[in-house]
Amino acid sequence: MLGDNSMSDQLIIFDTTLRDGEQSPGASMTRDEKVRIAKALERLKVNVIEAGFPAASDGDFESVQAVATAVSESVVCGLARALERDIDRAAQALANAKQFRIHTFIATSPIHMQNKLRMEPEQVVEMAVKAVKHARQFTDDVEFSPEDAGRSDPDFLCHILEAVIDAGATTLNIPDTVGYSVPGEFGPMIAQLIERIPNADKAVFSVHCHNDLGLAVANSLSAVLHGARQIECTINGLGERAGNASLEEVVMAVKTRKDVFSCQPRIDTKEILSCSRLVSSITGFPVQPNKAIVGANAFAHESGIHQDGILKNRETYEIMKAEDVGWTANRMVLGKHSGRNAFRARMADLGEEFATEEALNRTFARFKALADKKHEIFDDDLQALISSSSGDEVNEVVKLVSLHVCTETGETPEARIVLTIDGEEKSATAQGSGVVDATFMAIEHIVHSHSQLLLYSVNNITSGTDAQGKVTVRLEKDGRIVNGKGAHTDIVIASAKAYLNTLNRLYSTEPRQHPQSAV
Ligand code: KIV
Ligand code: ZN
Repeated sequence: MLGDNSMSDQLIIFDTTLRDGEQSPGASMTRDEKVRIAKALERLKVNVIEAGFPAASDGDFESVQAVATAVSESVVCGLARALERDIDRAAQALANAKQFRIHTFIATSPIHMQNKLRMEPEQVVEMAVKAVKHARQFTDDVEFSPEDAGRSDPDFLCHILEAVIDAGATTLNIPDTVGYSVPGEFGPMIAQLIERIPNADKAVFSVHCHNDLGLAVANSLSAVLHGARQIECTINGLGERAGNASLEEVVMAVKTRKDVFSCQPRIDTKEILSCSRLVSSITGFPVQPNKAIVGANAFAHESGIHQDGILKNRETYEIMKAEDVGWTANRMVLGKHSGRNAFRARMADLGEEFATEEALNRTFARFKALADKKHEIFDDDLQALISSSSGDEVNEVVKLVSLHVCTETGETPEARIVLTIDGEEKSATAQGSGVVDATFMAIEHIVHSHSQLLLYSVNNITSGTDAQGKVTVRLEKDGRIVNGKGAHTDIVIASAKAYLNTLNRLYSTEPRQHPQSAV
């Protein structure tokens, strides 16, 4: 993947949903969830999958290792601070990958060097060069990022980037870490770097934009127009704070405007929607209806004038085809009478393979229970079913045994819940402003988690009043933020399941090192 930058007609898509995406508050994923997303990204044909930051914790290390083993068509990348121990850890985690990259970084803006690193600029250059040389002992594919490049001095950037190319970096990623840049300056900055750095032709220039001002996609596209040939992005624009550039928006902008962009990604766009839904269902981050490309309204034409135009000639109001990004009708695929083979085959179409017969049987039993309540089972129901089965991986300390709720006009809603904690049965009754509030209070009477509820959201998975409700709960305790989810045709039960799933995740997550904390 050596760089000829603006001459190359390939746009490399580097997906960081599993790393920067996971840095969204509460978006932490289990190892199996990461593997499911990585396989979906591979089907999407992204060039590089940043699988995580292996030095963060043993769990992060194992997740990167599992992704490295599961994926063969995309390069698997691990993030490492410019420290030998981080790089060694990344190399160990990636050792089984068919193709792997080490991505090392250090901050270069005056504000980061002075306040976070407390280092002189020349010390930073020395560390960067040392890190790149060290990483090159494990692989020829080494990426370097000057963190907070958007607020760094261009002369210093030229100096450090020239030095790391000499040390062996093959991709230079320019991050707008705090989302401060605007397209009119960010693109020209990339052009300037490519022009001024004497050995720029030996590396691919990449960009990594954050969305604090809502400009991540615009900045990324401006960079491509000025010679960048890799974009770092995430599914649904997930990422630290306001998120990263959204993969689906970047890809469809470049594909739709081939007249403007001279380079193209290899992405299989028909996989975009299912990948977006998978990420949303695993992380519990719903996609807003008016989100470009993957939002429910993205291809919905409401006004009569628009519909008339579309019927006469779809191009009147449509610049892309809905089916090109995977919006075929959400088919009724299975029902109550469907057998195990039909179920297994449809799951395989969705990219879900069962490791054992037992795993298949467990999920099939859940499918049958759902089909008894809801006669038409759609692909999205199946995805939710897998997401709730993958909760099996979370150590379930607290389990729901039964829930009884009572609500009547003019009366205070009440919930009685029975749980097991480490196998021991406990029950409680509570009143609340509604049945969900009462249910959460009853749970808290038993568990006393002393956590704070940051978010409660309910979305329907498919349409109709028999649809499953998909509930996301976000809790905070001692600075740790965790999301959990639950799905059920009864939204009060879905809410209880989501609350318990969040508690179980809170109890089972280990402390992790944030990659962008001081070295
Ligand atoms: O935003 C950022 O600067 C990052 C780096 C680690 C590449 O995520
Ligand atoms: Zn970032």
